[in-house]
Amino acid sequence: MCGIVGYKGKREAYPIIVDSLKILEYRGYDSWGVAISGNLSTSVIKEIGMIGDADSLGDASKINRGTMGIGHTRWATHGTVTIENSHPHLSSDGKIAVVHNGIIENYQALRKNLKKKGYVFKSETDSEVIPYLIEDFLKNKKGISFEDAFRKTLSLLEGTYAIVAIHDGFDTMICARKDSPIVIGVGVDAGEYIIASDVPAFIEHTKNVVFLENREMAVFNGDMKIICSVTGKIITKKSQVIDWDIEQAKKGEFKYYMLKEISEQKETINKAIHQDDKVIQDIADAINESYGTFFIASGSSYHAALSASYTFSRIAKKHINVVDSSEFPNYEHFLTPQTLMITISQSGETADVLDAVKVAKKKGVKILSIVNVMGSSLMRNSDHSLLMNAGPEICVLSTKSYTSQLSILTLLAYASVGKLDEGKALLRCVANHVGELTDPKTILSTVEVASYLKDKEHLYIIGRGQSYPTALEAALKIKEVSYIHAEGFAGGTLKHGPIALIEKGTPCIVFAPNDETKKEILSNAMEIKSRGAHIIGVSDKDNEIFDDFIKVPDVGHASPICDIIPIQVLSYYLAIFRGCNPDRPRNLAKSVTVK
Ligand code: G6P
Repeated sequence: MCGIVGYKGKREAYPIIVDSLKILEYRGYDSWGVAISGNLSTSVIKEIGMIGDADSLGDASKINRGTMGIGHTRWATHGTVTIENSHPHLSSDGKIAVVHNGIIENYQALRKNLKKKGYVFKSETDSEVIPYLIEDFLKNKKGISFEDAFRKTLSLLEGTYAIVAIHDGFDTMICARKDSPIVIGVGVDAGEYIIASDVPAFIEHTKNVVFLENREMAVFNGDMKIICSVTGKIITKKSQVIDWDIEQAKKGEFKYYMLKEISEQKETINKAIHQDDKVIQDIADAINESYGTFFIASGSSYHAALSASYTFSRIAKKHINVVDSSEFPNYEHFLTPQTLMITISQSGETADVLDAVKVAKKKGVKILSIVNVMGSSLMRNSDHSLLMNAGPEICVLSTKSYTSQLSILTLLAYASVGKLDEGKALLRCVANHVGELTDPKTILSTVEVASYLKDKEHLYIIGRGQSYPTALEAALKIKEVSYIHAEGFAGGTLKHGPIALIEKGTPCIVFAPNDETKKEILSNAMEIKSRGAHIIGVSDKDNEIFDDFIKVPDVGHASPICDIIPIQVLSYYLAIFRGCNPDRPRNLAKSVTVK
């Protein structure tokens, strides 16, 4: 949560930082700010709200035209959404500016000490201690460099951080990380560096990337020096080339990333299944040989994991333990070195997932990750990783990454019974169907359903068997983007409580694929229809029970992939009709890097 940027080079820093922050906005958009180093002082601009709404040219007149600067887009944790709490934070002499992503857990004690020394805090944040600490070291230790003062400050911080700091007097930019992400883009021009929380922020400028590890810091002053922040030892690192391009990070002809990313799914499913057969087979064999396999994930990735556990059960008769990553520490007593943990995460930065990995590693568990962001913390902390190859997903909601995850997991299920080729053929066919389901002509009927639903307050979704996780994911999509109260239930749960919520006109979406659940889910649909519910059927065949019908193809074990597509489209249009920004739902952030 929170996106940070730093630029040092020969070009004017402000427009580069603003554009990067606009891309990083998915990490938080309560407020934003930029600080640019000048000859005499640092100039700062801070605004409440989304940077996407800001007119960068107009705002630029308020800030100096220096070539070194930092920026931040905030998801508030400590302190409300105010200008004072927005980053960058400055030292009391105004020379040092700092942006921070993470949480400084001991900030209260640090603040108390600094207050005793006479420092006056302007914000309620945990982050403001950082520039003051650097300043304090510089003031009190004669001859100390900015680099050393920064490193000494790090030694006092407990918690998580990705920090970028600049100092006017030293013409130096420094960054460091511990458990929060930071990547360094190495510019094409000598001496140009762009630091960011995530690669898409600078992909327009460079594809050459250096990944910082925990407890590493980088100092930029003409060139780049990477050192261990604990020992001060110099570390040599090579840059890597990232296989993403700028078009993937732009909206193109689409008004919002969400619809763009929904429309990309034919291609992204094909890319997801384009894996090395041997690697897929080895992982499938490891699942078969393990004494207990856990799928660990959060949010939509958790729903993908849950859905895949049904696929493994159906295809491979294999039991998979699926645990929401935030609950995983409760399972540590069941872990042995024979356990296999498969973590599923688009960003590879979700704090709860990374924590689950830490817990499992202590027990000698082997970690495999299915991840979209190359070089992410999860990828670096796993024994093996499979990349989803979905390209950057910028909308806060997961759409293409969800179907990529399902595709890879389905492939693994087929491989675990020696039917990898059959799985691939099915998924290629699914990709074609998904292309049809996202076609502008096909979505018209779903748009009509969205128009009918747009003023409803509550909406319920049911499914059985492998459609149950789809119902959960469908409800998540609708509620997070349209703010309509939507709940997903297993069809069989209805009579244990939720049916009490049904009254005349209550809309209910019913997943009725052509599988063993069809008869029973249609009975459930009938039970709620008899109590006044308006039934929207998502099925391969229309049925007289349905008041509205959304047709999806019958693709057998891969039904969850096709069935979710119309609901993604529905969610998008519900947001549009209700005047919500589908890319930036309120209170949410794409990467949940705090617990
Ligand atoms: C957030 C996002 C979701 C995402 C979840 C897990 O809640 O808004 O879209 O599914 O995090 O993220 P991950 O990157 O681990 O898949």
